Amino acid sequence: MLTTSLPRVPLAHLPTPLEPLPRLSAALGGPQLYVKRDDQTGLAAGGNKSRKLEFLFGQALAQDADCVLTAGAPQSNHCAQTAAAAARHGLRCVLVLRGSPPEQFTGNLLLDQLFEAELVWTGDQTREAVLAERTAAEAAAGRRPYAIPIGGSTPVGAVGYALALSEILDQAAERGLRFDRLIVASSSGGTQAGLVAGAQLAGYDGQILGISIDAPVPALQEKVAALANDVLALLAPSTQPSARVRPADIAVNDGYLGAGYGIMGLAERAAIRLFAETEGLLVDPVYTGRAAAGLIDLARRGAFQRQENILFWHTGGTAALYAYADQGLA
Ligand SMILES: Cc1ncc(COP(=O)(O)O)c(C=O)c1O
Repeated sequence: MLTTSLPRVPLAHLPTPLEPLPRLSAALGGPQLYVKRDDQTGLAAGGNKSRKLEFLFGQALAQDADCVLTAGAPQSNHCAQTAAAAARHGLRCVLVLRGSPPEQFTGNLLLDQLFEAELVWTGDQTREAVLAERTAAEAAAGRRPYAIPIGGSTPVGAVGYALALSEILDQAAERGLRFDRLIVASSSGGTQAGLVAGAQLAGYDGQILGISIDAPVPALQEKVAALANDVLALLAPSTQPSARVRPADIAVNDGYLGAGYGIMGLAERAAIRLFAETEGLLVDPVYTGRAAAGLIDLARRGAFQRQENILFWHTGGTAALYAYADQGLA
């Protein structure tokens, strides 16, 4: 089991369950599918951000922050999870959200309100600019702000996923299983980068395939490789330059970008339905539904061997489902 002395606060119920998906595997005619239930991390509606936030809040509290700021899309799972973690620690939370307020506050936006986050809408400014501005304003008001970039994908946040890789290897070993491949939704890159760094440290040589949510292959490969190297520098400072991760080492598929970020197409709809009908499992319209659509398509095209063991890393996001209720899901 990989460990670290970096500051960490407990936010997630770990280890998350590892479950077989026999009915989905049968519906696709193989491979042997399993799911890692990071949608069940236990913080608010669950999801991958809980693991990152354990280390990000660890750093925030170590710096004596009294206010946490971050940014995202209106239905950002990361923002809702950050607001929940801030509520749990009694910290003020400011969320910078893209665009202008919608008529209805549902899904993650409803959660943001329940956690009493202050919502700041960017209008036509960039989220990065507004986040920097608001962070400076908090400091000017005498508070001690801690700003988290979009998606929580800093090296410190991504450490959570290096440890998660170690966790899944332990769970697999307990069951006498070996995963040939892990499949995960990849966007700001921290989740995949942490997994890649963890694999490097553990000597795991199965494929870690990121289904890109919103970026072309080269951009995402660059981002993930850079972050993975930063995670290695934090966890194993003596890593030799020859062991550094190169962008070409990062497995990314950008064949499922559809009509763009947050736009639920036919493929995501079909994937959400198939996961629900066969396994009683919820995936979301933006991230896990898109990754699931990639998995289903690749399986149907015969990209996997029938006897392969494949792990679908469920990164959560299901609170956003409700915001898409009027888009012909059921
Ligand atoms: C549900 C869900 N899955 C996957 C991701 C992608 O993770 P990352 O940004 O670390 O690539 C996100 C990011 O917001 C997410 O909310």
